[in-house]
Amino acid sequence: MKEKTKANVYTAFIGEAKAYFRLLAYAEKAEEEEVPQIALLFRAIAEAERVHATRHMNLAKDIIVKDTDTNLRNSFKREKSISENEYPNFIKDAEMEGEQAAALTFSQARDAESYHAKLYERAIYHVIRDETKAYYVCQVCGYVTSNKLPEKCPICGATKDKFKTVGE
Ligand SMILES: [Fe+2]
Ligand SMILES: [Fe+2]
Repeated sequence: MKEKTKANVYTAFIGEAKAYFRLLAYAEKAEEEEVPQIALLFRAIAEAERVHATRHMNLAKDIIVKDTDTNLRNSFKREKSISENEYPNFIKDAEMEGEQAAALTFSQARDAESYHAKLYERAIYHVIRDETKAYYVCQVCGYVTSNKLPEKCPICGATKDKFKTVGE
C-alpha cells in the first residue's frame, strides 16, 4: 500500500475504534435519560463503526498485525512503555491537579499493564503453547491472571465475582 493511503487507513481505524466506545457511552446516557430509541440508534451506529474499524484493520493488516512472535514482542514493549513512561506521567499530572479519581484509575491501570507485560514476557520466554489455561480478568482495573480465580484482585481489591473468565 502507498504511504499516504496506508497512514489514512490507520488513522481511520483508530477513529472508528474510538467512535465505537464513544457511541456506546452515548447510548448509555440516552438510556439514563429514558430515550430508548435514541439509545438504540447510538448502539446501531456503534455496531456500524465497529464494522468499519474491522474493515480498515483488515485492509491494513500487514502494518498492524504481524506473526504471533512479533505480536507478542510488540505487545510486551507497549505494555512496558505505557506502564513505565506514559502512566507514571499521567499520574504525576493528575496528582498535581488534585484529580484523585484520575490518579487512582491511572495507577491501577499502570499496575495492571505491568502484569500484562509479565504475562507476555512469560509467553515469549517460556513454553505456554501447550497449556490450555483460562485467564481471569478484573472488570474493575484490568488485572489479568492465569493461575486461579483470585479471592480478591491484588490491584484494586475487587471480589472474585468481578472477574471475567476467558477460555473456559
Ligand atoms: Fe495492557
Ligand atoms: Fe482489579
